[in-house]
Amino acid sequence: MKKDIAYLQTKKQQKQPISVLTCYDYPTACMQDAAGIDIVFVGDSVGTNILGYKSEMEVTMADMLHHLKAVRRGVTDAYLLIDMPYASDCNPKQAIANANLFLDNGADGVKLEGGKEKTSIISALTEQDIDVCAHIGHNPQIHGTKAATHGKTVSKAKELIQTSSDLVDAGAKLIVLEKITEEISQIITESINIPTIGIGAGRYCDGQVLVINDILGIGPEFKHAKRYQDYNRLTYEAICQYKEEVENGAFPTDANVDNIAFDKLERVKKWLALKQ
Ligand code: KIV
Repeated sequence: MKKDIAYLQTKKQQKQPISVLTCYDYPTACMQDAAGIDIVFVGDSVGTNILGYKSEMEVTMADMLHHLKAVRRGVTDAYLLIDMPYASDCNPKQAIANANLFLDNGADGVKLEGGKEKTSIISALTEQDIDVCAHIGHNPQIHGTKAATHGKTVSKAKELIQTSSDLVDAGAKLIVLEKITEEISQIITESINIPTIGIGAGRYCDGQVLVINDILGIGPEFKHAKRYQDYNRLTYEAICQYKEEVENGAFPTDANVDNIAFDKLERVKKWLALKQ
C-alpha cells in the first residue's frame, strides 16, 4: 500500500511511531521499502555523507535530482520525501518551480529548513497542493554542520513552540525537530496536529529520522544516533581480502570462470598453429 500524508497522520493519531531514514541510492531504497520504512528521505545530507562535500550548502538541485531518480526506482510503498537544497527556496516562485521538478521526478513531498521566515514559502507551496515538511531546531543549511541543542532557554523554548504552530498554520503537513530538548519536543508534539519527526529530539516525537550512514556505521559516531552495523570495518575487511586474493591467485577459482568445450579449443589451437 502506497503511504501518503493521511496514513502518516493516522499513525500520529493512533500513537504508532513513524520510521524515517535518509536514502541516497537504489539498492538502499529497495531495502528500506521492503523493510517497511514509512518515509524514505532523500536528504541534502547526501552532500556530506556521499558526495564528499564540506557542508550542505554545496548541494545543488542537480545533485538532489540525480539521487532522487535512483531512490524513486527502488521505492514502491514508502512516502518519498526530498530536501529542498540550499538556496533553492528563496522566494515562492523559485520554491514552487523547484518543488514541482522534484514531484515530476517522483517525490511525494518536499522538506525545507527554517522557521517563521519560511511561512510564506510554505503557504505558497501548499496552495499549489504540494506536501511540505518543515524543519526547525538545528538547520544545517543555516547553522552549519556543528549542531548545538535548541530549546534550553525559556525564550528559545517559547520561540520553538510558537514557530511550530505558525508552520502548521502555514500548511506544513509534517515537521522535523532536530537537536531540540526532549521536553520541548514533547510539548510541540502534543500541541500540534501534524506528525513531528525527531532527530536528536528525544523519545516523544511522533517519529524518528536518522541518517542511513549513521545506523550502518559509516563515518563518525553521534550521540543522537545508534549504530546497528559496522559497515566501515566489514567493507574495509572485504576490500583487503579481495586485494590479497587477487595478488596471491586465490581469486578467481574454477567456480568463477567459464570454459570453451575441449574439442572446440583443439580446433582453435590447430587454426592458430596453421596461421603461424
Ligand atoms: O538531510 C538530512 O539528513 C536531514 C536530517 C534531518 C535527517 O535533513
